[in-house]
Amino acid sequence: MAAAGSAVGLGNIWKFPYIAGENGGGAFLIVYLLCVLLFGMPLLMTEFLIGKKSGRSAYGAFRELGGDNRWQWLSWLSMLTAFLIMGFYFVVTGWCFNYLYEALLNTFHGMSVADLTAHFKQISANKPRMIAFGILPIILTASVLIFDVNKGIERLSKILMPLLLIMMFLMAGRVLMLDGSNVGMQFFFEMDFSKITPSVIMEAMGQCFFSLSIGMGALITYGAYMPNGQNVTATSIQVIVLDTLVAILAGIIIFPAVFAFGFDPAEGPELVFVVLPAIFEKMSFTWLSAVLFFGLLCIAAITSTISLMEVAVAFVCEASHGKLDRKRSVLIVASLTVILTIGCVFVPPMFDFNDNLTSCIMMPLGALGMALFVGWYLPRNGKEGVLSADKGIKHWAKKAYIQVLRWLVPAAILIIFLNSLGII
Ligand code: PHE
Repeated sequence: MAAAGSAVGLGNIWKFPYIAGENGGGAFLIVYLLCVLLFGMPLLMTEFLIGKKSGRSAYGAFRELGGDNRWQWLSWLSMLTAFLIMGFYFVVTGWCFNYLYEALLNTFHGMSVADLTAHFKQISANKPRMIAFGILPIILTASVLIFDVNKGIERLSKILMPLLLIMMFLMAGRVLMLDGSNVGMQFFFEMDFSKITPSVIMEAMGQCFFSLSIGMGALITYGAYMPNGQNVTATSIQVIVLDTLVAILAGIIIFPAVFAFGFDPAEGPELVFVVLPAIFEKMSFTWLSAVLFFGLLCIAAITSTISLMEVAVAFVCEASHGKLDRKRSVLIVASLTVILTIGCVFVPPMFDFNDNLTSCIMMPLGALGMALFVGWYLPRNGKEGVLSADKGIKHWAKKAYIQVLRWLVPAAILIIFLNSLGII
């Protein structure tokens, strides 16, 4: 449930609809689902198994399993990726907190489509306000890590997930009753293969890594905390199903509303923030629905930022060889994150740059490294593979898993890279 809390976040509800909207709707959806099947299962399992086998987070895990420092670059890459993601993720989490605050004050009531779009522009241009709302979730996340209330977070995730799903089903039900919603459904589900371009494939791959939190070591830590008897295969399937369900539901809520209200599906990062308030206006219990949904969205974002910040904190803690205790490491990481977040508020191109670089390049590279490490290096190195960490896995599944990791995953990532560079 905690791993699902890391996976389900702004990636599903904020990023998925806007990236799908920019990349042709149905064409993007089909490539995205293929990526989830191809990369999601083997890589989620890989990270869990690395963690479970080593009992460490990314920094210690590669040395522990590899027996030397040769794969240490993967933990450096993870740490850097975590910082870069946090830089823009906290800005968007800040938008969510701002919208929760405004929902509480009932600010959106009676606003037209044009008003809502203008309102987002005005709010996001207010730099001091955006910085304040961006720092708030940084403080919350850092506090969770310092006071070690992970158990509480896990319990929170258990309540959050079902509530979020119920809320999203209700919203989808309301949106589908709007006049003109069928155009949005068509946009989201119509498979127009001619729209599949190299950049659509690249974006879909990046979105898959980002949404499932794979390729940057975040889930290694969750593997390390897994109880001995836990079935890694089943856990991975559950996380994937839940994450994909939330993303698809977000699409079913946003696109019909986009077309029914006359928004533009390729609006960009502000898409869900301008569409959602218009949806609540159409729901009974407008105020309550908005407050509840934005509240749940903020919690979903925080359960993801906890796993992001943890990667950087564990790195600083372990890399300092105990000179920096956990509390100091959290303070250092949180301070650096504040600086990065301010950077992303002031320099919008930095926001896009961080987002693209991490999802489309760094996370796939990290995943490629992990696939090679577990698929080739460990067995060749005479070391027992990571699969012994999962007792439940069947013999044929072990064989299939290793082959997929050795060949399919690296080949697919390389082909997508070369394809988007125009080389093939
Ligand atoms: N998967 C999270 C989301 O969809 C983001 C995330 C990425 C979290 C990488 C941790 C690590 O919002």
